[in-house]
Amino acid sequence: MRLDKYIYDNVIMSRKDAKEAVLKGFVTVNGERSPRPNLQITPGVDEIAYKGKVIKYEQNVYFMLNKPEGVVSANTDAHIPTVIGLFKEEGRRNLSCVGRLDKDTTGLLIVTDDGDLIHRLTSPSKHVFKDYLVTVAHSLSEDDISKLENGVDINDPSPTMPAKVKAIDENNYILSICEGRFHQVKRMMLAVGNEVIKLKRLSIGNIKLDESLKPGEYRRLTEDELKEFDL
Ligand code: URA
Repeated sequence: MRLDKYIYDNVIMSRKDAKEAVLKGFVTVNGERSPRPNLQITPGVDEIAYKGKVIKYEQNVYFMLNKPEGVVSANTDAHIPTVIGLFKEEGRRNLSCVGRLDKDTTGLLIVTDDGDLIHRLTSPSKHVFKDYLVTVAHSLSEDDISKLENGVDINDPSPTMPAKVKAIDENNYILSICEGRFHQVKRMMLAVGNEVIKLKRLSIGNIKLDESLKPGEYRRLTEDELKEFDL
């Protein structure tokens, strides 16, 4: 890999600035200053430093986003702001969302450039429980809860898989589901004659939304959180 590309990939700066940083002598390779942006280095083997600080090589990056309302879980859209548009600083990475949340759904979304992980986590056979805070129009009866927990018909070829429902108050519930069908929570509530007013994802497996993130803010996943994905 070219030295300036390594800097560009791993430090938040433009390609042009990365080249200049090398030319100006801000970059060292194994302790030696290198003035050649096209110097070939081996990521993970050569020690690269920028202004004296060692720059760790990251093959992939992993973020937790508190998705705000009004953005679509997509890379591009002609009219509506996108989730990936919130990652302007990281734009050089080929980022995508792990699964989707509806435009009006808020909360935990994982964003990464690790295509293998996206594939692994969104495969229908991967049954990771996801918790949603659901605000519904009407209180759920015991019967509704039991139906939701046993699986409901949402006009798909098969009913939904068993879910868990925990009441917070009359209109707010935590619904845990292990599938990711299109508009699943909204369709499950419709199946018991209810309507979702607000929806927020709180967790995916053991990864919980960091409540210190304001809507639209994101942070890197921690080492412990990455272990959840066997990374
Ligand atoms: N279920 C929905 O209906 N919408 C979402 O955004 C996520 C799950």
